[in-house]
Amino acid sequence: MSVSLKPMTTTAFVAVVENVDLSQPVSSSTVAELRSAINRHSILVFRGQTIDNDQHVAFSRNFGALEIHTVKQYLLPDYPEIIALANRGENGTTPIDNGGAYWHSDISYKIKPPMGSLLYSLEVPPDGGDTLYADMYAAYDALDENMKRKLEGLRAIHGYAARFEKMGEGGKRPQLSAEQLAEVPEVNHPIVRTNPETGRKALYINEGFTLGIEGMPMDEGRALLDTLNAHATEPRFIYAHHWRVGDLVFWDNRATMHCATAYDTQYARTMHRTTIQGDTPI
Ligand code: OGA
Ligand code: MN
Repeated sequence: MSVSLKPMTTTAFVAVVENVDLSQPVSSSTVAELRSAINRHSILVFRGQTIDNDQHVAFSRNFGALEIHTVKQYLLPDYPEIIALANRGENGTTPIDNGGAYWHSDISYKIKPPMGSLLYSLEVPPDGGDTLYADMYAAYDALDENMKRKLEGLRAIHGYAARFEKMGEGGKRPQLSAEQLAEVPEVNHPIVRTNPETGRKALYINEGFTLGIEGMPMDEGRALLDTLNAHATEPRFIYAHHWRVGDLVFWDNRATMHCATAYDTQYARTMHRTTIQGDTPI
Protein backbone atom coordinates (compact mmCIF):
# COMPACT_ATOMS: atom_id res chain seq x y z
CA MET A 1 0.00 0.00 0.00
CA SER A 2 1.46 3.36 -0.86
CA VAL A 3 1.85 6.19 1.61
CA SER A 4 -1.09 8.60 1.88
CA LEU A 5 0.18 12.18 1.83
CA LYS A 6 -2.19 15.11 2.47
CA PRO A 7 -0.54 18.46 1.78
CA MET A 8 -1.88 21.25 3.97
CA THR A 9 -4.03 23.61 1.94
CA THR A 10 -2.39 26.93 2.81
CA THR A 11 1.12 25.66 3.54
CA ALA A 12 1.82 22.91 1.00
CA PHE A 13 5.39 22.51 2.22
CA VAL A 14 3.75 20.53 5.03
CA ALA A 15 2.05 17.18 4.43
CA VAL A 16 0.21 14.89 6.82
CA VAL A 17 1.11 11.22 6.42
CA GLU A 18 -1.97 9.18 7.22
CA ASN A 19 -1.34 5.49 6.94
CA VAL A 20 2.03 4.72 8.46
CA ASP A 21 2.30 3.13 11.91
CA LEU A 22 5.69 4.07 13.32
CA SER A 23 5.59 1.40 16.01
CA GLN A 24 6.03 -1.23 13.26
CA PRO A 25 9.03 -1.74 11.02
CA VAL A 26 8.31 0.09 7.75
CA SER A 27 8.98 -1.53 4.38
CA SER A 28 11.79 -0.39 2.11
CA SER A 29 9.23 0.89 -0.40
CA THR A 30 7.61 3.03 2.31
CA VAL A 31 11.03 4.38 3.26
CA ALA A 32 11.71 5.22 -0.40
CA GLU A 33 8.36 7.02 -0.65
CA LEU A 34 9.03 9.02 2.50
CA ARG A 35 12.53 9.93 1.31
CA SER A 36 11.04 11.22 -1.90
CA ALA A 37 8.19 12.96 -0.03
CA ILE A 38 10.58 14.97 2.16
CA ASN A 39 12.07 16.48 -1.02
CA ARG A 40 8.60 17.70 -2.07
CA HIS A 41 7.19 18.54 1.35
CA SER A 42 9.83 19.67 3.79
CA ILE A 43 7.69 18.73 6.77
CA LEU A 44 5.93 15.41 7.29
CA VAL A 45 3.42 15.17 10.13
CA PHE A 46 2.46 11.77 11.59
CA ARG A 47 -0.43 11.98 14.07
CA GLY A 48 -1.64 9.61 16.76
CA GLN A 49 1.54 7.55 17.08
CA THR A 50 2.49 5.48 20.12
CA ILE A 51 6.18 4.68 19.98
CA ASP A 52 8.86 3.84 22.50
CA ASN A 53 12.47 4.96 22.32
CA ASP A 54 13.61 1.89 20.38
CA GLN A 55 10.88 2.42 17.77
CA HIS A 56 11.69 6.14 17.48
CA VAL A 57 15.38 5.36 16.93
CA ALA A 58 14.66 2.48 14.54
CA PHE A 59 12.31 4.55 12.36
CA SER A 60 14.76 7.47 12.29
CA ARG A 61 17.66 5.23 11.19
CA ASN A 62 15.82 4.50 7.94
CA PHE A 63 16.90 7.96 6.82
CA GLY A 64 20.54 7.91 7.87
CA ALA A 65 22.95 7.61 10.77
CA LEU A 66 21.90 9.55 13.88
CA GLU A 67 23.66 12.55 15.36
CA ILE A 68 24.69 12.56 19.04
CA HIS A 69 24.50 16.12 20.37
CA THR A 70 27.64 17.82 21.71
CA VAL A 71 25.79 18.87 24.86
CA LYS A 72 25.15 15.70 26.84
CA GLN A 73 22.88 16.94 29.63
CA TYR A 74 19.69 16.58 27.56
CA LEU A 75 20.42 13.14 26.15
CA LEU A 76 18.45 10.19 27.54
CA PRO A 77 20.96 8.10 29.54
CA ASP A 78 20.14 4.86 27.71
CA TYR A 79 19.44 6.50 24.34
CA PRO A 80 22.12 9.07 23.49
CA GLU A 81 20.49 9.39 20.03
CA ILE A 82 17.46 10.98 21.74
CA ILE A 83 17.55 14.52 23.06
CA ALA A 84 14.83 15.15 25.65
CA LEU A 85 13.22 18.58 25.55
CA ALA A 86 11.45 18.03 28.84
CA ASN A 87 10.56 20.91 31.15
CA ARG A 88 10.47 18.54 34.13
CA GLY A 89 13.60 16.69 33.01
CA GLU A 90 13.46 13.00 32.29
CA ASN A 91 15.52 10.19 33.76
CA GLY A 92 18.10 12.69 35.05
CA THR A 93 18.22 15.03 32.03
CA THR A 94 18.40 18.76 32.70
CA PRO A 95 14.95 20.38 32.50
CA ILE A 96 14.51 22.75 29.58
CA ASP A 97 11.37 24.78 28.92
CA ASN A 98 12.29 26.95 25.95
CA GLY A 99 14.89 25.08 23.91
CA GLY A 100 15.02 26.44 20.40
CA ALA A 101 12.96 29.59 21.06
CA TYR A 102 14.77 31.38 18.23
CA TRP A 103 14.69 30.71 14.48
CA HIS A 104 17.18 28.00 13.62
CA SER A 105 17.98 24.94 11.58
CA ASP A 106 19.24 22.20 13.88
CA ILE A 107 23.00 22.09 14.33
CA SER A 108 23.67 24.18 11.21
CA TYR A 109 27.05 25.02 12.78
CA LYS A 110 28.58 21.67 11.85
CA ILE A 111 30.56 21.02 8.66
CA LYS A 112 27.98 18.36 7.85
CA PRO A 113 24.75 19.66 9.39
CA PRO A 114 21.90 17.22 9.94
CA MET A 115 19.54 16.49 7.05
CA GLY A 116 16.48 16.15 9.23
CA SER A 117 15.02 15.89 12.71
CA LEU A 118 12.17 13.79 14.08
CA LEU A 119 10.40 15.30 17.08
CA TYR A 120 7.86 13.21 18.99
CA SER A 121 5.53 14.60 21.64
CA LEU A 122 4.82 12.72 24.87
CA GLU A 123 3.31 15.51 27.01
CA VAL A 124 2.02 18.86 25.80
CA PRO A 125 0.42 21.91 27.44
CA PRO A 126 -3.24 22.62 26.57
CA ASP A 127 -2.33 25.89 24.82
CA GLY A 128 0.81 27.35 23.29
CA GLY A 129 4.11 25.56 22.90
CA ASP A 130 3.55 25.41 19.15
CA THR A 131 6.58 25.00 16.92
CA LEU A 132 6.79 27.43 14.00
CA TYR A 133 8.36 26.34 10.71
CA ALA A 134 9.53 28.55 7.81
CA ASP A 135 9.62 27.34 4.20
CA MET A 136 13.09 28.31 2.99
CA TYR A 137 12.47 27.20 -0.62
CA ALA A 138 9.51 29.59 -0.85
CA ALA A 139 11.50 32.30 0.94
CA TYR A 140 14.29 31.95 -1.62
CA ASP A 141 11.91 31.89 -4.60
CA ALA A 142 10.23 35.10 -3.40
CA LEU A 143 13.47 37.12 -3.33
CA ASP A 144 13.82 39.65 -6.14
CA GLU A 145 16.34 38.97 -8.89
CA ASN A 146 18.80 41.59 -7.59
CA MET A 147 18.94 39.92 -4.21
CA LYS A 148 19.29 36.46 -5.75
CA ARG A 149 22.26 37.72 -7.78
CA LYS A 150 23.79 39.37 -4.72
CA LEU A 151 23.58 36.14 -2.72
CA GLU A 152 25.16 33.97 -5.39
CA GLY A 153 28.39 32.50 -4.03
CA LEU A 154 28.04 34.13 -0.60
CA ARG A 155 28.73 31.99 2.46
CA ALA A 156 27.45 32.55 5.99
CA ILE A 157 29.52 31.90 9.10
CA HIS A 158 27.74 29.55 11.52
CA GLY A 159 28.73 29.02 15.16
CA TYR A 160 27.33 27.47 18.32
CA ALA A 161 29.42 28.93 21.15
CA ALA A 162 27.86 32.42 21.09
CA ARG A 163 24.33 30.99 21.04
CA PHE A 164 25.13 28.60 23.86
CA GLU A 165 26.39 31.49 25.96
CA LYS A 166 23.22 33.49 25.29
CA MET A 167 21.09 30.54 26.37
CA GLY A 168 23.18 30.23 29.52
CA GLU A 169 21.88 33.53 30.96
CA GLY A 170 20.79 32.90 34.52
CA GLY A 171 23.43 30.21 34.90
CA LYS A 172 21.12 27.38 33.78
CA ARG A 173 23.80 25.91 31.56
CA PRO A 174 27.42 25.20 32.40
CA GLN A 175 30.05 26.49 30.00
CA LEU A 176 31.14 24.38 27.05
CA SER A 177 34.34 22.50 27.84
CA ALA A 178 37.45 22.89 25.70
CA GLU A 179 36.69 19.50 24.21
CA GLN A 180 33.12 20.53 23.33
CA LEU A 181 34.33 23.83 21.86
CA ALA A 182 36.77 21.86 19.67
CA GLU A 183 33.78 19.91 18.31
CA VAL A 184 32.03 23.10 17.22
CA PRO A 185 34.45 25.48 15.48
CA GLU A 186 32.84 28.14 13.29
CA VAL A 187 32.07 26.93 9.76
CA ASN A 188 30.89 28.51 6.51
CA HIS A 189 27.95 27.33 4.41
CA PRO A 190 26.46 28.68 1.19
CA ILE A 191 23.59 31.11 1.84
CA VAL A 192 21.73 29.61 -1.10
CA ARG A 193 21.66 25.87 -0.60
CA THR A 194 20.78 23.45 -3.38
CA ASN A 195 19.07 20.14 -2.77
CA PRO A 196 21.39 17.76 -4.66
CA GLU A 197 18.51 15.41 -5.61
CA THR A 198 16.01 17.96 -6.91
CA GLY A 199 18.10 21.03 -7.71
CA ARG A 200 15.74 23.22 -5.65
CA LYS A 201 17.32 26.19 -3.95
CA ALA A 202 16.63 27.23 -0.37
CA LEU A 203 17.83 30.08 1.79
CA TYR A 204 20.18 28.53 4.31
CA ILE A 205 20.61 31.09 7.07
CA ASN A 206 19.09 31.30 10.52
CA GLU A 207 18.76 33.62 13.47
CA GLY A 208 20.22 31.14 15.93
CA PHE A 209 23.62 30.28 14.56
CA THR A 210 24.58 32.52 11.61
CA LEU A 211 27.01 35.17 12.79
CA GLY A 212 28.19 36.97 9.68
CA ILE A 213 29.11 36.59 6.03
CA GLU A 214 32.50 35.45 4.84
CA GLY A 215 34.58 38.27 3.34
CA MET A 216 32.22 41.06 4.52
CA PRO A 217 32.64 43.40 7.49
CA MET A 218 30.81 41.77 10.43
CA ASP A 219 28.16 44.50 10.79
CA GLU A 220 27.39 44.53 7.06
CA GLY A 221 27.07 40.73 7.00
CA ARG A 222 24.92 40.77 10.13
CA ALA A 223 22.63 43.41 8.58
CA LEU A 224 22.13 41.33 5.43
CA LEU A 225 21.44 38.22 7.51
CA ASP A 226 18.89 40.18 9.58
CA THR A 227 17.15 41.29 6.38
CA LEU A 228 17.03 37.70 5.11
CA ASN A 229 15.76 36.38 8.44
CA ALA A 230 13.02 39.03 8.56
CA HIS A 231 12.00 38.11 5.00
CA ALA A 232 11.99 34.34 5.61
CA THR A 233 9.86 34.65 8.75
CA GLU A 234 7.08 36.66 7.13
CA PRO A 235 3.74 35.00 7.92
CA ARG A 236 3.28 33.83 4.30
CA PHE A 237 6.18 31.37 4.72
CA ILE A 238 5.18 30.03 8.16
CA TYR A 239 3.39 26.92 9.39
CA ALA A 240 2.57 26.70 13.12
CA HIS A 241 2.41 23.15 14.41
CA HIS A 242 0.06 22.78 17.36
CA TRP A 243 1.19 19.64 19.15
CA ARG A 244 -1.02 16.82 20.31
CA VAL A 245 0.32 13.89 22.29
CA GLY A 246 1.48 11.25 19.81
CA ASP A 247 2.51 13.62 17.01
CA LEU A 248 5.79 12.98 15.28
CA VAL A 249 7.06 15.70 12.97
CA PHE A 250 9.87 14.91 10.55
CA TRP A 251 11.39 18.05 9.07
CA ASP A 252 14.07 18.78 6.52
CA ASN A 253 16.72 20.97 8.13
CA ARG A 254 18.16 21.80 4.70
CA ALA A 255 15.00 23.61 3.64
CA THR A 256 13.29 24.90 6.80
CA MET A 257 13.94 26.87 9.96
CA HIS A 258 11.93 26.39 13.14
CA CYS A 259 11.26 28.23 16.37
CA ALA A 260 9.73 27.14 19.69
CA THR A 261 7.01 29.33 21.23
CA ALA A 262 5.99 30.06 24.82
CA TYR A 263 3.46 28.22 26.98
CA ASP A 264 2.42 28.08 30.60
CA THR A 265 5.20 26.11 32.30
CA GLN A 266 2.91 24.90 35.07
CA TYR A 267 2.04 22.22 32.49
CA ALA A 268 4.46 19.47 31.55
CA ARG A 269 5.94 19.47 28.05
CA THR A 270 8.02 16.45 27.07
CA MET A 271 9.40 15.98 23.57
CA HIS A 272 11.95 13.55 22.16
CA ARG A 273 14.11 14.37 19.17
CA THR A 274 16.32 12.26 16.97
CA THR A 275 18.54 13.98 14.41
CA ILE A 276 19.63 12.51 11.08
CA GLN A 277 23.14 13.21 9.85
CA GLY A 278 23.52 15.01 6.55
CA ASP A 279 25.98 16.09 3.87
CA THR A 280 28.15 19.12 3.31
CA PRO A 281 25.83 21.82 1.96
CA ILE A 282 26.29 22.80 -1.70
C1 OGA B 1 13.94 20.95 18.31
C2 OGA B 1 13.33 22.25 18.63
C3 OGA B 1 11.26 23.27 19.32
C4 OGA B 1 10.12 22.97 20.22
O1 OGA B 1 13.44 19.92 18.79
O2 OGA B 1 14.91 20.92 17.56
O3 OGA B 1 13.86 23.27 18.29
O4 OGA B 1 9.06 23.61 20.04
N1 OGA B 1 12.14 22.18 19.25
O5 OGA B 1 10.26 22.11 21.10
MN1 MN C 1 15.60 22.74 16.93
